[in-house]
Amino acid sequence: QHCILVGAPVDSGQSNPGCLMGPASYRVAGLAATLEELGCRVSDRGDVTPRPAAPLGCDNPAVHSLGETVAWQNALAEAARAAMAEGFPVFLGGDHSLSLGTVAGVAAHAAAQNRPLFLLWLDAHSDFHTLASTRSGNLHGTPVAYVAGLGGFEAFPPFDCPVPAERICLFGIRSVDPDERAAMGEHGLVPVDMRELDERGFVAPLKAFLDRVRAENGLLHVSFDVDFLDPSIAPAVGTTVPGGATFREAHLVMEMLHESGLVSSLDLVELNPFLDERGRTARLVVDLTASLMGRKVFDRVTRSL
Ligand code: ARG
Ligand code: MN
Ligand code: MN
Ligand code: MN
Repeated sequence: QHCILVGAPVDSGQSNPGCLMGPASYRVAGLAATLEELGCRVSDRGDVTPRPAAPLGCDNPAVHSLGETVAWQNALAEAARAAMAEGFPVFLGGDHSLSLGTVAGVAAHAAAQNRPLFLLWLDAHSDFHTLASTRSGNLHGTPVAYVAGLGGFEAFPPFDCPVPAERICLFGIRSVDPDERAAMGEHGLVPVDMRELDERGFVAPLKAFLDRVRAENGLLHVSFDVDFLDPSIAPAVGTTVPGGATFREAHLVMEMLHESGLVSSLDLVELNPFLDERGRTARLVVDLTASLMGRKVFDRVTRSL
């Protein structure tokens, strides 16, 4: 496995500065060495630098940093497409608005390969706002709506290969705004919310999604928002929501993803090192990434995941 680390120090998609230190924090926490110990070849491409932002506005006065976000999107879409051609990209965020770009680049690659793209969104939030519906104006709340092909993103480069609702799995969701809920209903996007995970456990719903990816020979992009985790183990995030995944649940998800062999790209988003406690959140995300890339306690006969 050739892992390509791509730094995306995006901070414009929310209003709590600090995510721009994310890539540096993962590097300090030893991400590259950890992946190398697992037998991966690692190329760190450094941080992406966007071209200067053009001033851009839209009808919703709450929206901020639109020009900056579009500049990041263009640069990251290009970087993502190039990295996909070479190996397994790991995008080091940066707030979740970076996925407007990474998923666009990954989707372009999948379309060129004639493979369907599937999206696993590990998050407390559904990130299903449009530029019109967002109240906070924080564009990190919009990437799923954009990649699903919803209207209302005229300021952004047109997205030619939207991901159909059936290929998007929002997993661990526990904070959804009323407009997002309505838009998801209209669009036919059914999340695996925390209520469902409490009832059914993490294994069955994840396995069902992975089976569909495999059945269609899909590529799988995983977008990991640190707030998927419970704030008690992952304090370094601006939008904590109680009741998140535990240490063991999150590792189980990552181990299942590894065993599936289906994941082709990964976003690590929303880490705000300014809010961390002695690096514990950055270290936890590095450990989870190691599980996703094959670290395990014992080799076992792989149960059919
Ligand atoms: N729905 C809320 C908003 O639009 C929260 C979004 C949080 N998104 C995130 N990527 N952490 O402001
Ligand atoms: Mn998110
Ligand atoms: Mn979130
Ligand atoms: Mn593990």
